[in-house]
Amino acid sequence: MKKMILVAAAVLAVVGGGVAVAQSDVIAQRQASFKRMGEHMTAMKAVADARGAGAQFAGNIDEMLHVFQSVPSRFPAGSATGGNTKALPTIWSDAAGFASAANDTVTKLQALRTAATTGDGAAFQAAWQAVGPTCGACHRTYRAR
Ligand code: HEC
Repeated sequence: MKKMILVAAAVLAVVGGGVAVAQSDVIAQRQASFKRMGEHMTAMKAVADARGAGAQFAGNIDEMLHVFQSVPSRFPAGSATGGNTKALPTIWSDAAGFASAANDTVTKLQALRTAATTGDGAAFQAAWQAVGPTCGACHRTYRAR
């Protein structure tokens, strides 16, 4: 009997530890994804500034679309704390607003994706410039400084 209780306690400890690890993985993974989003934006900046056509970024933009379409799922319940997350509680208290902010970025990225296929440098520049403010808008409300 005593042995069974010990086994049960060990199983619970493993499961509990597993949950903690999983949440910090979720946080580390979303931070890595966001970091990559920033790198993609920076890489495009030089070309946008020079009014280049941006066709070479089609793949990067597709990757960004994939990330921002899945933003809410990267913030599961329970990942508000842990690691060095800067996620604010408003993400969960205002889930609709958070999803809408992600959707604004998706909309601008879709326009950027289209601009990148037209070969029109001015259109690429304007579309690139329209993406950044949507990043900042979400960060202001949902990310700690
Ligand atoms: C819907 C909200 C939202 C949008 C839109 C958004 N972000 Fe973020 N971003 C966050 C949150 C929340 C964090 C903090 C995540 C954490 O620490 O767990 C973050 C973190 C980051 C980080 C820091 C990552 C790290 O190393 O910890 C970078 C860089 C970043 N975002 C870039 C961007 C860029 C570039 C865009 C636009 C193309 C963007 N974000 C759009 C919510 C958003």
